[in-house]
Amino acid sequence: MHHFRFRKNQLYCENVKVEDIAKKFGTPIYIYSLKTLIEHYRKIKNAFHSINPLICFSVKANSNLSVLKVLAKRGAGMDVVSGGELFKALRVGVNPKRIVYAGVGKSEREIASAIKAGILFFNAESFPELALIDRVARRLHERIDVCLRVNPDVDPHTHKFIATGKATNKFGLDMYTAEEIFLRSRIFSHLNLCGIHIHIGSQITQAQPFVKAIKKALTLINRLRAKKISLKYLNIGGGLGIVYRNEKPQTAEDFARAVLPLLKKAKLRIILEPGRFIAGNSGILVSKVTYVKTTPNKNFAIVDAGMNDLIRPSLYDAYHEILPLELNSHGHRTTKYDIVGPICESGDFLAKNRSMPVLEAGDLLAVMGAGAYGFTMSSNYNSRPRAPEVLVHGNTCSLVRKRETYQDLVKNEIISKGL
Ligand code: LLP
Repeated sequence: MHHFRFRKNQLYCENVKVEDIAKKFGTPIYIYSLKTLIEHYRKIKNAFHSINPLICFSVKANSNLSVLKVLAKRGAGMDVVSGGELFKALRVGVNPKRIVYAGVGKSEREIASAIKAGILFFNAESFPELALIDRVARRLHERIDVCLRVNPDVDPHTHKFIATGKATNKFGLDMYTAEEIFLRSRIFSHLNLCGIHIHIGSQITQAQPFVKAIKKALTLINRLRAKKISLKYLNIGGGLGIVYRNEKPQTAEDFARAVLPLLKKAKLRIILEPGRFIAGNSGILVSKVTYVKTTPNKNFAIVDAGMNDLIRPSLYDAYHEILPLELNSHGHRTTKYDIVGPICESGDFLAKNRSMPVLEAGDLLAVMGAGAYGFTMSSNYNSRPRAPEVLVHGNTCSLVRKRETYQDLVKNEIISKGL
């Protein structure tokens, strides 16, 4: 599954002892396993090889340049949702014809830079957005491919904050409106409306919601075909769930087995946009216990990583496994702790009521499954410099992002004159 394993009671990332990395670069720190990243990318690629889809890694999950480069070098395209993500993908040499651009709020400037870069297509989500892309394309004397993101109104059975394919979500166009737009596409003289995009949510553990959504997309494709509108692309988005705790998510093969017959029927170029599946279990966040505090109600392990480093527990009540880097270092007894950060918010926690070996100040802990939506969602809240990132490859580890400094915290600020 992943390459974070215990050897002689010590946690290793591939062949490097995690404690050595923590000691060398300090904590908190993100550590990624290159082998795990590549293996997960290949799992999807192999499962779908019979239709040779374009696999666009969802950059929002992990936008570290080295991570992007590892995937790009192996043929991955990129799914971007901002000018910044586009910039990063281009920076590592991703072929623009392997970049797709989604998001409900693309600005005029972002649209222009994507057209100039020569991306494969936009995934558009509303009529006014189509009108804007059309205007920008006209100004640039280009004609650009666009897929319409449809909202298939299926329940992905995931956390409500990461469900996107229900009718009440802000994403996509309902089927009826999408069809109307395809039928009237001539009004957009500089757009080539040539595909359908669906993305119903994230951390989806069963194939069924995907099957339902793809069936709805096929219905639309067939209705359009009957009206002589032919398409090039079907983009089925991302959303594959991973193991954080005791989930039993579908494997890439299970997923492929369930959806391939449908995708083959579509007879279109298929795009996938996995993020978490590739990056999630490829990374951990390592943190040090600063204090152990016992109150009449609870034991708190106060660690040096907070919600500014990893917000998923605070934001979604997400479960991340937390392991000591050394097993049994203080015997076999366990106690329950709230594992909390240094941020001045009661919502700043990494785990609640978690049974852990007895902890002491100075102990190092690994927060597992932090490779996706970990660093990318981190912030400088409480003026805390963001953590460094390290990429491990076999016996070697390289610093791929430096720890921010206090100077970084103020580098864009201007103290107004006359204060
Ligand atoms: N495609 C589109 C259009 C998306 O919006 C997303 C994720 C993906 C692909 C990739 O989804 P994935 O394969 O990673 O599930 N911050 C949340 C997850 C938000 C996902 C947003 N969209 C979390 O930490 O759980």
